[in-house]
Amino acid sequence: MGFQRTNGELYCESIPLTAIAAKYGTPTYIYSRTELIKQFSKFDKAFKENPHLICFAVKANPSLAILNQFARLGSGFDIVSGGELQRVLASGGQAGKTVFSGVGKTETEIRLALTHGILCFNVESSEELSRINAIAFSMQKTAPVSLRVNPDVDAKTHPHISTGLKSSKFGVPWKEAVNLYKEASGMRGIRLVGMDCHIGSQLTDPAPIAEAASRIIKLVDILHTEGIELDHIDFGGGIGIRYGNESPVTPDEYVHMLLAKMGRHTQKILIEPGRALVGNAGVLLARIEYLKKGEDRRFAIIDAAMNDLMRPALYDAWHTIEPVIMHRGIPVEEYDVVGPVCETGDFLGKNRPLSVRPGDLVTILSAGAYGMSMSSNYNSRPRAAEVMVDGDVCHLIRSRETFDDLIRGELIVE
Ligand code: LLP
Repeated sequence: MGFQRTNGELYCESIPLTAIAAKYGTPTYIYSRTELIKQFSKFDKAFKENPHLICFAVKANPSLAILNQFARLGSGFDIVSGGELQRVLASGGQAGKTVFSGVGKTETEIRLALTHGILCFNVESSEELSRINAIAFSMQKTAPVSLRVNPDVDAKTHPHISTGLKSSKFGVPWKEAVNLYKEASGMRGIRLVGMDCHIGSQLTDPAPIAEAASRIIKLVDILHTEGIELDHIDFGGGIGIRYGNESPVTPDEYVHMLLAKMGRHTQKILIEPGRALVGNAGVLLARIEYLKKGEDRRFAIIDAAMNDLMRPALYDAWHTIEPVIMHRGIPVEEYDVVGPVCETGDFLGKNRPLSVRPGDLVTILSAGAYGMSMSSNYNSRPRAAEVMVDGDVCHLIRSRETFDDLIRGELIVE
């Protein structure tokens, strides 16, 4: 296990979190290297001999050390910007194992991706297809393309992270996909290599994932009758994790479901998990500054805030919050755990029964995905430090930001 308690004290692998706080301060993101490897291996092993590529969704956690760890395990990457491509390259990842998703790829980004030779563009509209075709043609290249098809299934997740419905901005409508494939097959700057879908994130119900997979495979069969063959099928990401009491589909069950759906199909399978690889491999460590008694509730004011972990404020997301050291003899009180940011929405958790004192360390669990990656400098707060624990060694993988970092690039006008 990445995080566990010994004698009531929370450890990451063999290091007590108190030692990390003493050395690096708070707030700090802590990742367990063993847990990252374990999660990746669960998916990888489940595929057995079947041709596959796991493309880690960089947006979930773009830390160079984490990307490097996945690259070493043979991972590919799912990116949505030129910046993410540059991160993949800087971390030692391969462009040839990288798929480029997203509805708004700019000309500069398309050129960058073609120059580095990415595995494919996951194309989200006919307009984007034309743009990629023209750019590739002008560069005397052929762009590898997979169309992101919108299978129109309800992912049954939070509306902000559901992407597979007709009303969503993502993908090409299922009904129009065949025609667009036919059109693309005649374009001189385009080489069709795959089909892609992604219906949403934090999916816990396997039914919509299976339904989307069936619809995509059906479309691949229709293309086959039209004489269009593809090298790979990309089922996207979205596999949920346990934040509280969810019981999401396991990596094993998920991969077995995909293999069963594939049946006699021999195309390589791509998947784009983000959260499932890193979510539970990371926590945010913070310290209680004050315990404040309001008129009708108590507040535990900590030194981490919505700018460090935005998910509770943005999606009302639940993260378990635990003291690093379990005290005896301190009464349990119900607290809203909040940060110092000047917004009512700045909370990390509400109505949490905790037995804590000012100065205590607390951890916000399951913070490895969409934590640091969505952090900001709101309220001129320097971003947190990040460390990676490997057994009994703790590596600093990103220093805490300084005031100089905050004002870098700013100019005062005469
Ligand atoms: N592939 C594509 C095309 C995506 O858009 C995403 C996530 C993924 C893969 C990875 O999804 P995952 O396996 O991590 O669920 N900020 C939100 C999540 C937004 C997800 C956006 N797309 C959150 O904190 O819950």
